[in-house]
Amino acid sequence: MPAEEVLKPDQKVYYPDPSYQNSALIRDYDELYREFEKDPDAFWRRIASDLLWFKQWDTVRTWDHPHASWFTNAELNITYNCLERHVNNDRRNKVAIFWAGENGKERILTYYQLYKDVMRMGNALKSLGVRKGDRVCIYLPGIPELVVSMLACARIGAVHTVVFAGYGAKALNERITGAGAKIVITADASVRRGGSIPLKPIVEEALIHAPTVEKVIILRTQEPKVGLLDDFELDYEELISQADRNCEPEHVNSEDPLFILYTSGTTGAPKGIVHTAGGYMVGAYYTTKYVLTLRENDVYWCTADPGWITGHTYGIYGPLLVGGTIFLTEYTPDYPDAGIWWKLIEEYGVTIFYTAPTAIRMFMRMGEEWSEKYDLSSLRLLGSVGEPLNPEAFEWFYKHIGKKNCPILDTWWQTETGMHMITTMVGLPMKPGFAGKPIPGVVATVVNEEGDPVPPGTNGFLAIKEPWPSMMKTVYQNDERYRQYWNFGKYGYYSSNDIAMMDEDGYIMLLGRSDDIIIVAGHNVGTAEIESALVSHSAVAEAAAIGKPDPLKGNIIKAFVILRNGVSPTPKLIHDLKYHVRIMLGPISVPAELDFVDNLPKTRSGKIMRRVLKAQEMGIDPGDVSTLDE
Ligand code: PRX
Repeated sequence: MPAEEVLKPDQKVYYPDPSYQNSALIRDYDELYREFEKDPDAFWRRIASDLLWFKQWDTVRTWDHPHASWFTNAELNITYNCLERHVNNDRRNKVAIFWAGENGKERILTYYQLYKDVMRMGNALKSLGVRKGDRVCIYLPGIPELVVSMLACARIGAVHTVVFAGYGAKALNERITGAGAKIVITADASVRRGGSIPLKPIVEEALIHAPTVEKVIILRTQEPKVGLLDDFELDYEELISQADRNCEPEHVNSEDPLFILYTSGTTGAPKGIVHTAGGYMVGAYYTTKYVLTLRENDVYWCTADPGWITGHTYGIYGPLLVGGTIFLTEYTPDYPDAGIWWKLIEEYGVTIFYTAPTAIRMFMRMGEEWSEKYDLSSLRLLGSVGEPLNPEAFEWFYKHIGKKNCPILDTWWQTETGMHMITTMVGLPMKPGFAGKPIPGVVATVVNEEGDPVPPGTNGFLAIKEPWPSMMKTVYQNDERYRQYWNFGKYGYYSSNDIAMMDEDGYIMLLGRSDDIIIVAGHNVGTAEIESALVSHSAVAEAAAIGKPDPLKGNIIKAFVILRNGVSPTPKLIHDLKYHVRIMLGPISVPAELDFVDNLPKTRSGKIMRRVLKAQEMGIDPGDVSTLDE
């Protein structure tokens, strides 16, 4: 039955049909929040006790601001919980992964098959000398081997750092050297929109200056097979086929790192966000079970690439922890036509569909005639992540995809938080435009610069007051940078760097970043990375990048460039500069617009005032310009 629509003076609210709650088997939000508030340790202990630990923890949480430790001294292996916990019970033959490749290719892995593959890959890595704590870089597209490789690292206690396969050579090099990876796992190419994109040349370029890398494992998918460099490049299949079958899970400490995932920084280099084994596992498990409400018979599709945090937590670890069935595909939403994703939902009977506002807006633009061709009645829950889900997109998603039968979860969180933090949990009234409330276990607030709450309806900074299990442990080899996160206002809250507004009911609306990160089609890009890529071109003297609002992508990148003396701004130069950024950083970071200027607005201390550029671009008041250098 559709939810009731009630029109408040200026805010639409959807009151859910009570059957939502029953079908999702979730407990009442308020009751769960009260349970958490009454005794946070007992709350997390109860959740963690669903999982298997080789050794119990001494304390649930130790909080020595800004450092927390979770499930202190416990020992575990996340893959034991993702694999054995199901294989040894009645999920042995259950589908873990449905994978759909372009041209109707399909692969199906049961939990047992996945378990076997992970053990072999674990042994293969060990045979190359990978030991607990070593870093392994994975640069693969969204194929089952990526899941196997990640889990194989976790199996043996190695730390994976997955790099999205759309990144360019410089971005890949920075992540490999930043993490000091010993091994790189990659493929010859990735498939995209009927063609293939070579990955090996990018890896080769990235490895020219990457002294820590000892071997590269290459999955060769194409004929004729690409050649391999003796002693350095190894064939994925051959390695696995020679590996021993049984690989016991390494007993890792709860506080040992599970993975490093790089996210764009506000200053040049990307930050290696470190997540630990125990806390991350509990956070991923809890939110997949209680927020996504993933259940035994669901077929669950998270459209995010596994190379992003959403792909890590809700594409792989969370669903495997709860024993769910994952749907994974290399199909982009518009190839071979704009109906492909809806066709896949019908074919696989997808029940939970978790995607991004930029995809939803693209579908809106292409029109509902595409989704109407297919039977979407298997869907029971829709989700969104990555940037604000604007009310128009919410309405369209709700009506045309959910057919007014599916609640929408607009989930706010970050690479750093590891898990969902704010959303409208299934069963609560939904307000388009608002992500919702902090989930039980999360204490969030909207504050002014001092850290004091601002009145309802007023814009402020979104801050988190208390630690949560899947919070990042540190920034890799830069704990100082980590400390800055927990240094907001006079109380030392965790700063999300997002602007937000809370209404009288405690619902939170996200209004964008407060720092120099641009969210382009849901992906984080730092202005500094783009600027330094531009400046590294011989024609450029200086550059500034801003995010310019865009109805489809949320933002596009606009760059202002000062050319070196004597260089003229020709169409060829524009092309070259864009190409230069693409090769270095990847297609996401390429400025859609380039303007050539003679000077840039700067503070007297020489900092570029991007705020002023943005205001000029949008024709709005730039605000306080007292520090602007005349
Ligand atoms: O600005 C917020 C935006 O994405 C940022 C985090 O980006 P990343 O670490 O790449 O993680 C994205 C996936 C978890 C946030 O600081 N963001 C994420 N989700 C939302 C959002 N903005 C508004 N609404 C959301 N639901």
